[in-house]
Amino acid sequence: MKRLIVANWKMNPQSVGEARKIASQIEHGLLAIKRETIEVAIAAPFIFLPMVKQAVHFVRLGSQNISAHSSGAYTGEVSAKQLLEFRVSLALVGHSERRALGETDDLINKKVLIALEHKIEPVLCVGFGTKFGMSESAEKKILMAQLRLGLRDVKVRSEKFAILYEPTWAISRGVGSGQAVAPSRAALMIKFIKSKYPQARVLYGGSIDSKTAAGFAVEDVIDGGVVGAASLRPQDFLEIVKSFNNY
Ligand code: PGA
Repeated sequence: MKRLIVANWKMNPQSVGEARKIASQIEHGLLAIKRETIEVAIAAPFIFLPMVKQAVHFVRLGSQNISAHSSGAYTGEVSAKQLLEFRVSLALVGHSERRALGETDDLINKKVLIALEHKIEPVLCVGFGTKFGMSESAEKKILMAQLRLGLRDVKVRSEKFAILYEPTWAISRGVGSGQAVAPSRAALMIKFIKSKYPQARVLYGGSIDSKTAAGFAVEDVIDGGVVGAASLRPQDFLEIVKSFNNY
């Protein structure tokens, strides 16, 4: 199973020129990295997807959200079919920052199902609502509830999907404090998730940068990461990719 690193640009950068520059630098940097064991994706804002599609070949295209509906009168939504037009093959679903805007487990489950129906790999994000210093059992309970509801009716043996373990408090900007989870704790939680969903790639997210990456990469059980702030700095992002590729 290849490791996967996803750049989650969130609502950044602010210009198409900057976005093109970052995408091209990431693509260029990947030329120098053997990629047999790793996949890289950029989850760009919808509006930049056509440009990113032009700028990259080795990088998979991702979205940060996907509509739960296939078409119709849903102002502001973007459908799976529309995403496929731009070679999007991966979608973050239920990111903490979207759950904070009111996305429910039920809605998230619909998004996971519609992504799978269109052969877009969903990355189901869990860990919203966990607190720093929480007991292992309390944290597992929250993760399990979000996994069970988010993956309801998913044929977990045959479908290709990923799970992101990302405690809200560990996210570097916005709602989070910017303190990464201890790699040993992340490995423990990811092992737990894998014991329930052994066929999924399970990633870690929250304040991964070029300094913290190696600590996570060295943990075999962690199948990759989702990188927010550091993914806007191509050199840092490429260092992270290299770390995960080295172990
Ligand atoms: P961060 O964001 O790397 O800036 O902490 C990760 C995420 O929210 O997916």
